[in-house]
Amino acid sequence: MRVFQIEGEWGIDNLKISTRPDPKPGPGQVLLRMSASSINFRDPIVPERAYGSQSGNLPLIPVSDGVGDVIDVGAGVTRVKVGDRACPAYFQTWISGEPNANRLTQSLGGPLDGTMSEFMCLSEEGVVKVPDYLTNLEASTLPCAALTAWSALVECGRIKPGEQLLIQGSGGVALFALQFAKMLGARATVISSSDEKIERLKHMGADATINYRETPEWGKAARALTDGRGFDHILEVGGEKTLPQSLRCIRPGGTLSMIGILSGGAMSTSLGLIITRQVKLQGITVGHRDGLEAMMNAMAQHQIRPVVDKVFDFAELKASFNYLKTGAQFGKICISHDR
Ligand SMILES: NC(=O)c1ccc[n+]([C@@H]2O[C@H](COP(=O)([O-])OP(=O)(O)OC[C@H]3O[C@@H](n4cnc5c(N)ncnc54)[C@H](OP(=O)(O)O)[C@@H]3O)[C@@H](O)[C@H]2O)c1
Repeated sequence: MRVFQIEGEWGIDNLKISTRPDPKPGPGQVLLRMSASSINFRDPIVPERAYGSQSGNLPLIPVSDGVGDVIDVGAGVTRVKVGDRACPAYFQTWISGEPNANRLTQSLGGPLDGTMSEFMCLSEEGVVKVPDYLTNLEASTLPCAALTAWSALVECGRIKPGEQLLIQGSGGVALFALQFAKMLGARATVISSSDEKIERLKHMGADATINYRETPEWGKAARALTDGRGFDHILEVGGEKTLPQSLRCIRPGGTLSMIGILSGGAMSTSLGLIITRQVKLQGITVGHRDGLEAMMNAMAQHQIRPVVDKVFDFAELKASFNYLKTGAQFGKICISHDR
């Protein structure tokens, strides 16, 4: 089968198209013919062994997110059948419940082989059937970015209708958060770097927006949008530079979901506000398989379509990584395995 893999030594230059023997499903396993993948911030840095021993061993097939057609199943498989489409879950052994060390380490695209492969052979417990209304490209975006937004707002955040949410940026996770907020009847304020993206965010239902390039001290302006009360929830993607602003506009008792550290990973803020405002600071790391299934059911009920920004050919994986690094995207960057 055709694969992309990091071979020989770590480093993006050693990420190449190669071949491996075709897999065959054993008992309890499912064979997928992959049709699409989508990329996340983590994927271009795994080839550089950015996650240390957590990156896995070589050769390694990169990329965590994708979708495929079920073309064969091993004995005893009941969760899917031949002809279904399925997404591999990001964490293969986190089925439900609380995270633990094992559940948080068995992730696709490092240390486990990822989706940039013609076929994937996985435990049936590690896949979720995809609703019919989604295209392959749309479905490929769900396992990491969408589930992270779902876990932050629904599974852990328990967001309620009428509550106020602040979302940072217009990347993959942020747009799913906006869609889920609207689905759940919450009020969404989004901050973004560009007026052009802000127009698109308004079309998607953003109730209020702030250009954070024009208003770097956006915390105060954001608080004013809530009549001074503050936000019930904040989806924190920036980290170092954004957390001080978020602490200025979270309400007492509000929930700050830390999902990214795009502006830096060190704490450089007055931590006292977390205590005096009794802020719930919750780290989110993707989520479990049952969450992915519940999220897909909710999306199907509301016919929510992921926003696909740009599609690259299979052979253009490195070009897709370079595009991701520009930050120009609005939503998800996908790879078609058919091209
Ligand atoms: N915890 C998890 O499980 C998990 C899962 C997925 C991703 N992540 C992390 O979450 C972050 C976002 O992921 P993604 O896939 O949504 O990325 P993405 O699609 O590449 O989107 C990034 C967007 O974030 C916005 N942004 C960048 N710096 C910002 C800042 N200082 N303040 C506000 N917005 C900023 C920009 O939007 P504008 O141009 O509109 O400003 C940018 O386009 C990454 O750090 C990623 O590693 C974490």
